[in-house]
Amino acid sequence: MNYTNVLGIDVGGSGVKGAIVNTKKGEMLTDRFRIPTPKIASPESISTVINEIVKHYNWSGPIGAGFPGVVQNGVIRTAANVDNSWINTDIDSLLSKATNCPVNVVNDADAAGLAEMKFGAGMGNKGLVLLITVGTGLGTVMFSGGKLVPNLEMGHIILKGDDAEKYASDAARKNDELSWEIWASRFNEYLKRLEDLTWPDLIIIGGGVSKKTELFQGLLKSRAKLIPAQFMNNAGIVGAAYAARYKYKLSQK
Ligand code: BGC
Repeated sequence: MNYTNVLGIDVGGSGVKGAIVNTKKGEMLTDRFRIPTPKIASPESISTVINEIVKHYNWSGPIGAGFPGVVQNGVIRTAANVDNSWINTDIDSLLSKATNCPVNVVNDADAAGLAEMKFGAGMGNKGLVLLITVGTGLGTVMFSGGKLVPNLEMGHIILKGDDAEKYASDAARKNDELSWEIWASRFNEYLKRLEDLTWPDLIIIGGGVSKKTELFQGLLKSRAKLIPAQFMNNAGIVGAAYAARYKYKLSQK
């Protein structure tokens, strides 16, 4: 078995995406394969979709997946944008059984952060780096001295009386039919709150919106330097694969 290559999967609010990743180079070796997230994103329906991705690549090696909720040692603890029945599910065991492959799952923002810090926009940065994934939800992850602080759920700080992600995510922009200017002014309020709480040296913006950076980058305001994610929306796939290799201590040389 080739342990350098891992099937990376990103479970998102609107799509479940996968690709085979060379985890030494941080490179996707195949095109991305995407299946729309089932309406009821339950353990059963998501397992089925992940199995379709495994079959698509005829894959039988290790799998690393990113999940949009708190993942503590392979167990899901929160499910803001997927079905509540995920809570307390041992996702590593569930998906390992469903796919017949060893599966390691981490939070999706943590996965994206790992990819950007190891191979992308934050490579080599030893300061305090905050990465925000802007998509269906708001995913947040911080690194200090290159070390990850897992499950930082800053998408749920209260802004305007509600979860920040209901106000400033890409889904909020679409639902509330906001222009990029209005969305950016909301996101700037969010950035200010995060910066006042955490004082990062560098902010990286990833997730679904990073495909359209040119539409809003000039509109964002922050104290810290702010840059787009290099892997754009593929960071979750690459980082989840990397985390799995790391977990299994696969060909570390
Ligand atoms: C979840 C986070 C996740 C983020 C992005 C939030 O609703 O609570 O765990 O990282 O969405 O998907």
